Amino acid sequence: MSTHKRIARAIIPRALRSFLKRLAIQTGLMEDPARMDAPLEYPFLGPMQAPTLRPNYRWGILAAARMAQSLGLPAISVVEFGVAGGNGLVEMESLAREAAQRSGVRIDVYGFDTGTGLPKPVDYRDLPQMWREGFYGMDVDALKARLSSAQLLLGEVSDTVPEFIKSAPAPIGFIAFDMDLYSSTVAAFQLFEDALELVLPRVVCYFDDIIGFSHSDFTGERLAISEFNQRHAKRKLSKMYGLQKFLKRTDPWLDMMYLFHAFEHPLYGEPDGWHTLSELPLVDSSSR
Ligand SMILES: C[S@@+](CC[C@H](N)C(=O)[O-])C[C@H]1O[C@@H](n2cnc3c(N)ncnc32)[C@H](O)[C@@H]1O
Repeated sequence: MSTHKRIARAIIPRALRSFLKRLAIQTGLMEDPARMDAPLEYPFLGPMQAPTLRPNYRWGILAAARMAQSLGLPAISVVEFGVAGGNGLVEMESLAREAAQRSGVRIDVYGFDTGTGLPKPVDYRDLPQMWREGFYGMDVDALKARLSSAQLLLGEVSDTVPEFIKSAPAPIGFIAFDMDLYSSTVAAFQLFEDALELVLPRVVCYFDDIIGFSHSDFTGERLAISEFNQRHAKRKLSKMYGLQKFLKRTDPWLDMMYLFHAFEHPLYGEPDGWHTLSELPLVDSSSR
């Protein structure tokens, strides 16, 4: 059960709870659980109504599950790079369960972290004015006790990512990048440099550390992205455009969503379910 549900149960009497639930469904604040098995259609306006502290994770996971569904793939992986205390990973696990139920696609969840907080920033590209070695430690036992299926891969990502690749996981469909440092993000990008079986043709990516006072195109995650794009002609990371319009909301995370494009992926040209309009017939002038 998610944290907000646990808090609500603790403070709201049972009788009032069911009244408030009905009210929330009627006013559109909460999705009707009876509609949970409705077909998954972009941009997921219905599922996006349900409360969560991580709407960015929910949208990314739903989009990845929908893509896998269109491509006829039975399973995908979703990843959080940078776990810290574990609030994101715990929520990711619950959102993956929800998306798996809706899509029929199995969703394996992985969290990567040193387990001991941030490594030492290497140089100015790691934004040492903001980050210090040891920030964001983890209570490993407490987090493991809260997780039911997500796998925690502890250690330096430069070591754990190659091991993860060797384990031949289901293709990756969504990644939340939240390791703060340029050097760590570059190491995580090994996932995009490897064999194409490792990924869906397009991977939804959320970058947590690309906005704010100290961030720039020349440091941190933004630098890692632009250097990756310079190194590759047929693999690119691009911002997703127009999410505000399609999702009918203005949250800052909509500007932090990217798509990794693997142009040479054998499934790159297969329909992914986003575009369904195939006819634009001439409108009868009398109906105008
Ligand atoms: C800001 S915290 C993550 C917060 C988390 N995503 C959340 O939403 O609560 C950044 C984490 O990245 C991890 N990290 C940074 N560089 C790393 C590296 N090279 N290898 C493994 N973990 C790393 C740190 O241990 C730290 O816990």
